[in-house]
Amino acid sequence: MKKRVLVSGGAGYIGSHVTVELIAAGYEVVVADNMSNCDMTCFEGVKKITGRDDIPFEKIDCCDPAAVDKLFSDYAIDAVIHFAAFKAVGESVAEPLKYYRNNLLSFLNILEAAKSHSGCNVLFSSSATVYGEAETLPVTESTPRMPATSPYGNTKQMSEDILRDVVFATAKYDGKDGQWPVKGIALRYFNPMGAHPSALIGELPRGVPNNLVPFITQTAIGKRECLSIFGNDYPTADGTCLRDYIDVVDLAKAHVAAVSRMVEGKMKEDYEIFNIGTGRPVSVYELVTAFEKVNGLKLNYKFAPRRPGDVVAIWADTSLANKELGWKAERTLEQTLASAWAWEKHLAENA
Ligand code: WQD
Repeated sequence: MKKRVLVSGGAGYIGSHVTVELIAAGYEVVVADNMSNCDMTCFEGVKKITGRDDIPFEKIDCCDPAAVDKLFSDYAIDAVIHFAAFKAVGESVAEPLKYYRNNLLSFLNILEAAKSHSGCNVLFSSSATVYGEAETLPVTESTPRMPATSPYGNTKQMSEDILRDVVFATAKYDGKDGQWPVKGIALRYFNPMGAHPSALIGELPRGVPNNLVPFITQTAIGKRECLSIFGNDYPTADGTCLRDYIDVVDLAKAHVAAVSRMVEGKMKEDYEIFNIGTGRPVSVYELVTAFEKVNGLKLNYKFAPRRPGDVVAIWADTSLANKELGWKAERTLEQTLASAWAWEKHLAENA
C-alpha cells in the first residue's frame, strides 16, 4: 500500500518540487494550498513532469481548523509536509500580525489534526534564518539559535519549538480519546534557488523579488533595470555577504529522505532537526559572476548600501543530514544558475 503525504503549500515553489520527487519515489501526494502566494502554473507543471493528472488538489486555507481536519479525515495521511506560510522577511517586519497569525495558526491546525489521526508524521519547513548571525561557522544543528531578526524568522523558531513540545507531549499517547503520538522533523533550509531541469516549475515571486536569484534572472530578462548588490563593505573576501545556496531539486530530495525516515520508523529521536544546505559558502558577487559566466551574458548590477537585517555570512555543516538521511546536495552552483535562467526564459516565452 503506497504511503500518502499531505503537502500544505504544495502549489508553491518548494512544495511543487517536493511533490515531483515524492511521486517519483512512489508516494501518493495530496496538495493543499490557498493560492494566496502562487497561481496554478507550478501545479500544472507538476502534472506534466509526473504524467499524473490525478494528483488531488484541495484549495483550502490552513488557518481554517475545520478544513484542515477534514483533509485528514478524507485522506489517510501518513505524513504531512508543512510549507504553507508567508516568507517575505521585509514584509513580516511591516506586518507582524499577518505573519504570526498565518504562519503559527496554520501550523497549530496541522498539528492538532495530526495528533487526532493515527500514525501521522510532521515534517516542518524551517530555515537557517533561525541561526541569525552565528558566532561559529559552519553552523551545526546544535549551534545556538540567536534572537530572530524578523517576525518571519521568529515564526520559524516558534514553530520549531511548538513541534518539539507537541512531539514530547504526545510521545505516550496511544489513540485513547482519539489522541495519537506525533513524530516530527524540522528541516532548516539554507538559501533555496534554481528550478526543475524541465523548466516547467520554478520560483514565481509575486511583485518585486526579495530574494537574490529571482532578482538576478528578472534583471537578465529585462523585467528589472538593475540588480543592487546590498553591501560590498562586509568583512568577507570580496566584501559581499556569504550564503549557502542550495538547488531546489536537491532540497526536494532531502524531503523525500526525511519522510522515508519517518514512515519507515528509522528516526532515532521523536523530534529531529537537520541542516539542508551544500556546506559551500558563496558570496553575492561570486554568484553574480557565476551566473554571467554559465549563461554567457552580462548582468546590469551596481553596489548599493547594506540591507538592514542581513547577516554577514552563514553556511551549513550538513554532516548530520548526510549521515542520517543518506542525502547530499549534488547539483553544482553553475547547474542551478543555468536552471534558474532556463526557467525565467520559459516564463518569458509563455507570458
Ligand atoms: C541573499 C543575499 C542579500 C537581493 C531569506 C530568508 C530565508 C529564506 C531565503 C525565504 C543577501 C543579497 C538580495 C538583492 C542582494 N527564506 N541580495 N540584492 O536574506 O539570505 O534569506 O530568504 O525564502 O529564510 O531569511 O536571502 O536572497 O534575500 O539574500 O544583494 O536584490 O543576497 O543582501 O546577502 P536571505 P536573499
